[in-house]
Amino acid sequence: MTTRPYIDQHQERFIDELIELLKIPSISADPKFKKEVLMTAGAVKINLEAAGCDTVEICETSGFPIVYAEKIIDPDLPTVLVYGHYDVQPPDPVELWTSPPFEPVIKNTDIHPEGAVFARGACDDKGQMYMHVKAMEVMMQTDELPCNIKFMIEGEEEVGSVSLEAFLEHNREKLANDVILISDTGMISKDVPSITTGLRGLSYVEVEIESPNRDLHSGLYGGAVANPINILSQMIASLHDENNHINIPGFYDKVEELSDAERKKMAEAPFDLEDYKKHIGINDIHGETGFSTNERNSIRPTLDINGIWGGYIGEGAKTVIPSKAFAKISMRLVPNQDWREITELFKTHFESIAPKSVKVKVKPHHGGQGYVTPIDGIEYQAADLAFQEAFGKPAVPQRSGGSIPIVSLFEKYLGSKTVLMGFGLNSDAIHSPNEHFGIWNYLKGIETIPYFYKHFTELYKKENQ
Ligand code: BES
Ligand code: MN
Ligand code: MN
Repeated sequence: MTTRPYIDQHQERFIDELIELLKIPSISADPKFKKEVLMTAGAVKINLEAAGCDTVEICETSGFPIVYAEKIIDPDLPTVLVYGHYDVQPPDPVELWTSPPFEPVIKNTDIHPEGAVFARGACDDKGQMYMHVKAMEVMMQTDELPCNIKFMIEGEEEVGSVSLEAFLEHNREKLANDVILISDTGMISKDVPSITTGLRGLSYVEVEIESPNRDLHSGLYGGAVANPINILSQMIASLHDENNHINIPGFYDKVEELSDAERKKMAEAPFDLEDYKKHIGINDIHGETGFSTNERNSIRPTLDINGIWGGYIGEGAKTVIPSKAFAKISMRLVPNQDWREITELFKTHFESIAPKSVKVKVKPHHGGQGYVTPIDGIEYQAADLAFQEAFGKPAVPQRSGGSIPIVSLFEKYLGSKTVLMGFGLNSDAIHSPNEHFGIWNYLKGIETIPYFYKHFTELYKKENQ
């Protein structure tokens, strides 16, 4: 039996199994869910065993464990390492979900008339990771596994993959591979398959402004004492100029400038501005002067406040000058910008713009490097051929604005190239309330993945004969 008939025959079970996995709240950011995160690792292990992997292990790290599995059929054949994550983002704000985030249900949407599974992690990344587990089953059951496969599924991606660097460093041999395959990104639309060729880096910091040593009466002291919220707001506002350019000395020094030809090529990717505005309910677009929306959210760095707090936010009014104000700030970086260097530049600048009247603290959280994948290697070609076989048309290369910091570490420690075959849509609401993943996308992913292995193995043999 070939792959698609097997998928059609077993699709209901494939969906039910994903639903079971989505019921476990594997929220890595919240220590209250530690048990559930560990349970999810266990569930992934059982599923990898059932799919036909020989060795399946739960590898302890200093944080949440990594599920490792392999099926080695012939050491002379190429080895593909699949990476994914079983942890999910917190579901907050829970009250905005139309059904509970960990009680998966299938609902139809305009974009997914065939139905979509609604649950936290449906698309990012349990649904996309599980496509690979099912693709493995399909290949085993139809006798079509053409190469060796390794799986490395982690549980800390959504909190910065902090334990992963040490794991890569100490397990180079175990993880040795010819290419890394990841489905944790998106595609342009259901009829425009795409291969993600770039990810942004990230520097995440938290800042604190302290003025008086206690909250003060805003009448008795107001006007005579620096209000940390006023000061923080001014400092934050000064971080962008009137062209929405980031005002940190040295910030743009290493930013790669794309040639006009490359920018022209990028502009060919289908994009409907009116649709974009409508989907997210914005009146108008906003961003750095001189760049298109697609450029602003992929090849240009950013600085965004992710949260800001301080003072009185309860019911009614309270007249107070707070002692402290805080903000969480993320900077999305482009390839060549070093995240540690940018974090330092930010810290130096932010401390320098604080007036003498306040104390300022900058606390770095985590970060990672951006990445661009080559499009002239056999892994890109194999992915493109796989999309052609499944969708009847070639894939469009697309740089994404999101970050998967581990990708650059794979290159550093394992010397591996990565290919990013995403099946999510922007409208799938990852990290937002009502995250979902289209059933059609899920099954299409399971169909496309085996084609990748087939083409990659053929191209590898040609290149190495
Ligand atoms: N899967 C996403 C990243 C992503 C989504 C890349 C869509 C491209 C397209 C990943 O789980 C994620 O959310 N990454 C974080 C970074 C991490 C260090 C917390 C992000 O991009 O905010
Ligand atoms: Mn993800
Ligand atoms: Mn994510």
